[in-house]
Amino acid sequence: MKLETKNLTKNYIVPKSGEVKVLKGIDLLINSGEKVALMGPSGAGKSTLIHILGLMDKPTSGNVLIDDIDITTYTPNKLAKMRKENIGFVFQFHYLLADFTVMENILMPVWNERKQKKEYALNMLETMGLTDRANHMPNELSGGEQQRVALARALINNPKILFADEPTGNLDRKTGEKIENLMFEMCSKLKTTLLVVTHSQELANLADRQIKIVDGKIC
Ligand SMILES: Nc1ncnc2c1ncn2[C@@H]1O[C@H](COP(=O)(O)OP(=O)(O)O)[C@@H](O)[C@H]1O
Ligand SMILES: [Mg+2]
Repeated sequence: MKLETKNLTKNYIVPKSGEVKVLKGIDLLINSGEKVALMGPSGAGKSTLIHILGLMDKPTSGNVLIDDIDITTYTPNKLAKMRKENIGFVFQFHYLLADFTVMENILMPVWNERKQKKEYALNMLETMGLTDRANHMPNELSGGEQQRVALARALINNPKILFADEPTGNLDRKTGEKIENLMFEMCSKLKTTLLVVTHSQELANLADRQIKIVDGKIC
């Protein structure tokens, strides 16, 4: 899936201090299947940008184009459908549901088709070295294992694009690296476009391209 933005801006209204300009005109083109690392200092607007690209937030002005279609005018229902069918997300925190098993968590985005998808989920668990964890609860796993489950859940629906917002920021370097390698491998195999926010130069080096955002602008 090709992803493009045109002169994208985002302002937040903050009580007392008024308007905060976070994104100040972002022009971006990510080609289908490309793996891109998004870097830049804390507060630069990285999360804001990928939330907008991931259709979880709206820009103040400018356009988001997915496969050349401007989705800025889409209704909430149409956006939700687009998101469900095409987009996967991995956050810094895993957000697994504590009362559900590993397998149930992975199948959550495709719950209505969970019977048909179980085989695929098991394959993914195997790739991630978690076969024997399928029936465990999230709190029985290590941080690295939890994040691998979150990655499997993000990929269960074969999204065309995966967004990852500092996915290994909470993990030690060695554990983080394993997951990063896994994420890149799986995206290559599935031909998933990847946009990953990271502070790690080693992770960024795995990407086809690195983009830096400073003070709301790409530089
Ligand atoms: N909901 C919000 N309301 C007001 N300001 C926000 C909101 N979300 C983020 N910001 C501000 O926008 C700026 C960019 O935040 P963010 O996109 O999270 O940066 P990054 O992910 O690069 O660290 C920060 O100054 C942050 O305080
Ligand atoms: Mg952030």
